[in-house]
Amino acid sequence: MHKKTSPLEVLESKERVNVCAPMVRYSKLPFRELCLKYNVDICYTPMILADVFKNSDFARYSDFTTNQADDPVVIQFAASNGKDLADAAELAAPYVGGIDINCGCPQKWAFQEHIGSFLMTEPETVRDMIRQVKNRVNIPCSIKIRVHPDLRDTEEFVRRAESVGVDFLTVHGRTRKQRSTEPVNFDGIKLVKETASVPVIANGSIFSLQDADEMYERTGVNGVMSARGLLQNPALFAGYEQTPWECIEDYVRLALGYGTNTFIFHHHLMFMFEDIMSKAEKKSFNTLSSIPAILDHLESRWGLDVSRLV
Ligand SMILES: Cc1cc2nc3c(=O)[nH]c(=O)nc-3n(C[C@H](O)[C@H](O)[C@H](O)COP(=O)(O)O)c2cc1C
Repeated sequence: MHKKTSPLEVLESKERVNVCAPMVRYSKLPFRELCLKYNVDICYTPMILADVFKNSDFARYSDFTTNQADDPVVIQFAASNGKDLADAAELAAPYVGGIDINCGCPQKWAFQEHIGSFLMTEPETVRDMIRQVKNRVNIPCSIKIRVHPDLRDTEEFVRRAESVGVDFLTVHGRTRKQRSTEPVNFDGIKLVKETASVPVIANGSIFSLQDADEMYERTGVNGVMSARGLLQNPALFAGYEQTPWECIEDYVRLALGYGTNTFIFHHHLMFMFEDIMSKAEKKSFNTLSSIPAILDHLESRWGLDVSRLV
């Protein structure tokens, strides 16, 4: 496989960089290829547990599939220590452009395992993780963080990460305890941008190009990352206000071509149809329980041309 593109080079060469967020279950190969087609510049894999990845061939193949077109791609790991992380990073490095450390997952089980947002209280552990990855692989190492309730802690966290050579970082403008429905802290993101000398990607409630414009204007960041916005409309960075039909067709073709499980396929389509279907249409779509049933429905109700998919 040829060497993959460095996300750092993308961030340094473009004024505004569109990023697809890491999303457990969803930001897999077919969805990443779809997003790249519609103006996304860098894609993240879902969060992968570093210790499981390094110890199990089965986990490696089921958690992470890639190909030459899956580029630029960053693999995101969750780890509680530098050794697990660096071991996993070394195995992944030939197939990706960057290694990202998840410091933001707020779920209770993750906190108990000392991964994800637990790391926001452990700047020294994160420093050691970055140091070990940088000693072992020759591709950029980034972190995805949240803001702290006291922004002085965020500033200190960023300084420490930079002191060991973090290559860029993403900041989700919410604290560990805030829900995604709560407003994004633009001042917190701006502070991170002003503190860091490496590129910064902003994350939180980017649902349209207007939201992206506002984020750039208010924070001065180098890129914006979207999660729920891209699930609902993978073409949002191409300027579409709702998912165009062509994009839905592209997704069906990619998912069936690469292979997908029914649950993920169904959910992606439910997200994409969110603003398109009426309540009654959603109700009947939600009851479909197999890929053939979903395809039949798309054919009869929405005019999907299955022959165009091959
Ligand atoms: C379905 C789903 C799965 C997610 N999985 C991950 C993940 O694997 N790693 C991660 O760092 N964040 C994960 N997140 C958080 C997003 O990357 C992002 O930080 C958060 O949703 C805020 O962005 P948004 O307002 O654009 O949705 C996930 C979010 C969603 C909705």
